[in-house]
Amino acid sequence: MSADLRIEHVQVRYGGFTALHDLTLHVPANTTLGLVGESGSGKSTLARAVAGLIVPAEGRMTLGGRALDKRRSREQRKQIQMIFQNPDASLNPRHSVRGILSEALLFHKMTRGRAQTEQRCRELLEQVRLPADSLDKYPHEFSGGQRQRIAIARALSVEPELLIADEPTSALDVSVQRDVLELFLEIRERLKLTVLFISHDLGVIHAVSDTVAVMRQGELVEFAPKERFFVRPETEYGRELLAAVPKMPIAAGSAERNLTF
Ligand SMILES: Nc1ncnc2c1ncn2[C@@H]1O[C@H](COP(=O)(O)OP(=O)(O)OP(=O)(O)O)[C@@H](O)[C@H]1O
Ligand SMILES: [Mg+2]
Repeated sequence: MSADLRIEHVQVRYGGFTALHDLTLHVPANTTLGLVGESGSGKSTLARAVAGLIVPAEGRMTLGGRALDKRRSREQRKQIQMIFQNPDASLNPRHSVRGILSEALLFHKMTRGRAQTEQRCRELLEQVRLPADSLDKYPHEFSGGQRQRIAIARALSVEPELLIADEPTSALDVSVQRDVLELFLEIRERLKLTVLFISHDLGVIHAVSDTVAVMRQGELVEFAPKERFFVRPETEYGRELLAAVPKMPIAAGSAERNLTF
């Protein structure tokens, strides 16, 4: 299940500093928006505003047509889940994997009774391709890539409609990044999620996005279907970003070519 995300004229301030200026964008249901832009451009700020972790000074946001207000209902908190760069942000080190997964399930009343909760925990582990005996282990017993899988399983446990991934692979070893990304793509396909995916890596953005949004200094400078952005960016800044990438896969399949303009 998924719902569309609409952001209209959103402004976020940190004290006197305006981190997001009048931002408007739409993410259709069951599509992925890839969000890029230099450090400090406001990507995480946007993610946090959508997730309800910070409150915009101005503007309006809706998910599936329903307003996302300052105070989120339990239902709304369930609908939007986040995956962070550092999986430890969402994994309590004192809880076993069973504890981590079942906490969210029980809080949102996703399962009834121990047997059902256990069954669902096992399903979730299978979904992220971790062995069933992981349930009794603690976060420190896993590698970084495995911990990110647990964080993904936790986010999926409550069947969200919108998933926000803020640089979910950038803290991982390069060899592991690809596996986690592939898993992510597979899950998204299966669950039909609407996704806001933040990354510095244009190769990753190319792999995951339907639409690309480029931010700079708290403003949206480019917003285009992926195919158009990667072939014909509309702004000088978009061209600069792409020119900084020497080579990347451009089409589905294995063909690679240089991007030149
Ligand atoms: N809690 C805060 N208080 C004050 N300023 C903040 C706070 N969080 C972020 N900022 C500022 O807001 C701007 C946007 O920050 P944000 O974290 O959204 O950028 P970002 O695009 O996610 O960057 P990065 O790519 O480095 O993660 C930056 O100038 C940052 O210094
Ligand atoms: Mg950030």
